Amino acid sequence: MTIHVQANSNIALVKYWGKRDPVLNLPAAGSVSMTLAGLTTTTSAAFGQPADTFEINGQVQTGKAAAKLSKFVDLVRERSGRTDGIAVKSSNDFPTAAGLASSASGFAALALAAARAAGLTLSPQELSVLARRGSGSAARSIAGGFVHWHRGARADGVDSYAESVAPASHWDLHCLVLVTAQGAKDLPSTDGMNLTMKTSPFYQAWIDTVETDIGDALQAISARDFQQLADVAERSCLTMHASGMAARPGVLYWNARTVELIHEVRRLRAGGSPCFFTIDAGPHVKVFCEANAADGLETLFRRHESVLDVLHATPGEGAHEVQA
Ligand code: DP6
Repeated sequence: MTIHVQANSNIALVKYWGKRDPVLNLPAAGSVSMTLAGLTTTTSAAFGQPADTFEINGQVQTGKAAAKLSKFVDLVRERSGRTDGIAVKSSNDFPTAAGLASSASGFAALALAAARAAGLTLSPQELSVLARRGSGSAARSIAGGFVHWHRGARADGVDSYAESVAPASHWDLHCLVLVTAQGAKDLPSTDGMNLTMKTSPFYQAWIDTVETDIGDALQAISARDFQQLADVAERSCLTMHASGMAARPGVLYWNARTVELIHEVRRLRAGGSPCFFTIDAGPHVKVFCEANAADGLETLFRRHESVLDVLHATPGEGAHEVQA
């Protein structure tokens, strides 16, 4: 039986940056995100094959990439007792050439598709734990709307899962992804965070900020307090990047356009347009605003000399099965 699923990407409002267990992808601290309708991975999976095959955006995966995916599917095989191969086809509806992270939606979709195709019925919590093994941020894409990924305390990781704290319908926040470079990112987030952990004198200082920021972000989301969310999201982003910049050698994901756009967002806000920025392990700038300001800001940024492209996302659903 072939299973078809969709999963959306997500953007952290309080960042995940550092692991307490690199094999299980257990985070050193929790994080908070919004799941993004408009950045979607569609995946199909069927067991009963002589060997594993993975096709992503029409490209058959080989070597390390295929081995990583097979290792992930091994977790599903172990759990279900299956020993046969899987055929997976996956595609993103957003430009992968832009170097936008697709591991969150990709592994969330693969976790759900492979589990269902193997005949497993997993709870959302178990699916989040499974997706986390592929990529930490994928744990959050299992859930919809506004999401809290719990750090957890157990060594086996069963309590480190993400869950929705408010559905997508709770708050019509829009996220404009301002693309500032073409091509894949220089340093994968796994490597950037490991280097930060091992060598940055600011790493522990960063981790010490996270729990307070999570409390403030959850409160801001619950109250739909835009100003409070703006404050916490920008400080979480800047503190995370500061910890990386202090690594040896420094982890610096920004380009000149990134910095220009940070200033532009601040100018806009000072001029009375409520918006805030956040940036992940790459040079693109994600600008959040409320629904009534989104189209105006999109037009403005499309004309901006530092912006190559704009993707427009809204709060989205968690990973779910779809018809073929
Ligand atoms: C900066 O989830 O890509 O986007 O667990 O090693 O696969 P791995 O890392 P990944 O890291 C995301 C880092 C971030 C912040 C965030 O999404 O919370």
